[in-house]
Amino acid sequence: MTFKNTLSYAQELDKEDPLRSYRNEFHFPKVKGKQVIYFTGNSLGLQPKRTKKYVDDVMDDWAQLAVEGHFYSEKPWWDYHERLAEPLSKVVGALPKEISVMNTLTVNLHLLMVSFYRPTAKRFKIICEEKAFPSDQYMLQSQARFHGFDPEVTIVEVKKREGEHAWRTEDFLDKINEVGDELALVLIGGVNYYNGQVLDMEAITKAGKSVGASVGWDLAHGVGNVALKLHDWGADFAAWCSYKYMNSGPGNASGIYVHEQYLNRKDIPRFEGWWGTKKDTRFLMKPEFEPMENADAWQISNAPILSVAPYLASLELFEEVGMPALIEKRNKIVAYLAFVLGEIAAEVDSSFEIITPKDRGCQLSVFLHGEGKALFTYLMENGVITDWREPNVIRLAPAPFYSSFEDMYRFGQILKQGILSK
Ligand SMILES: Cc1ncc(COP(=O)(O)O)c(C=O)c1O
Repeated sequence: MTFKNTLSYAQELDKEDPLRSYRNEFHFPKVKGKQVIYFTGNSLGLQPKRTKKYVDDVMDDWAQLAVEGHFYSEKPWWDYHERLAEPLSKVVGALPKEISVMNTLTVNLHLLMVSFYRPTAKRFKIICEEKAFPSDQYMLQSQARFHGFDPEVTIVEVKKREGEHAWRTEDFLDKINEVGDELALVLIGGVNYYNGQVLDMEAITKAGKSVGASVGWDLAHGVGNVALKLHDWGADFAAWCSYKYMNSGPGNASGIYVHEQYLNRKDIPRFEGWWGTKKDTRFLMKPEFEPMENADAWQISNAPILSVAPYLASLELFEEVGMPALIEKRNKIVAYLAFVLGEIAAEVDSSFEIITPKDRGCQLSVFLHGEGKALFTYLMENGVITDWREPNVIRLAPAPFYSSFEDMYRFGQILKQGILSK
């Protein structure tokens, strides 16, 4: 596709965009009285306007019904979270029964490791990506120590090759085969937070399973961003947060996926609580735990309704639009952003290196050769909300729900002024 770096062309693309009306479904912050160009949907998605009503409904029910709200509100709280399983299953490519919503991401990964990281003296190693998100690194290290293993020996990182910005799939597969029958678990960020790369989750899952390891995915940057087929790939488990592309609010509830082969079983080690036991006998307060037939067996506490309500509001939008339409817009708008970056680099005789490979979702990570943090600050002061990662990278993540092609064009103009004004 041949693009043009003009305002009228960008506006033309917006007119043709079937998702253009969804921009109005979101609140945009303002800088100096002007609506921002928002590139940090990979960090905290914008607030859908309909979210407030979902939260207000819970507040009203609480005010009017108090404890009776558990059973008699319009959306009773005791099974409120179950409403999320069906729409979420479509977003992550799973069966509804394989989904639950609870806790927060790192907590859930720890809980899932209770079930899926069962090291023995021979099979105890964990494969992850080099420089995994720090929370994942701390989690893996603490899990290794908890089981009495040395993290240095236990955690095997797959590295990028010298001078390359992206991982190669074959390097994951080779490492999995090399560690072989010492490998207990593969646990990787499916979409990398730093370079925006989408890993070949299917190939890596199959390789991990073929050597007898468990395979799980941290999908913080994948959910609501890329096509996922967790069930068909045969992944054992996954977890994600809901505050990035899922637009559910700061620190909000996490989702989990557990493959159906592990459901309805008492022999799976798990940390258990009363919300994981069967609904029909839960309030008999029996001492025996009877696991729910679905992934809710991993629920420990009663669900945080004020967190789950915004997640439900957001999932309604995903239901309306569907991942295929979001992905189609994503591909076009990210390609247009890459084009605009190239045009501006040529106009100002500067070079930005897009370190995100072609296997990408919403995010372009851009290495600013020689431009640096002053340019980032200029962008922020001029209404372009992006983020800075050391040593010299800004991450730009247009979100197909609410970013416009005009935003991409206007961003290019602000970037150009920022470079020329120095
Ligand atoms: C890839 C990845 N993993 C884990 C986390 C940690 O999430 P939480 O604070 O919800 O546990 C984040 C947060 O941004 C993340 O990006």
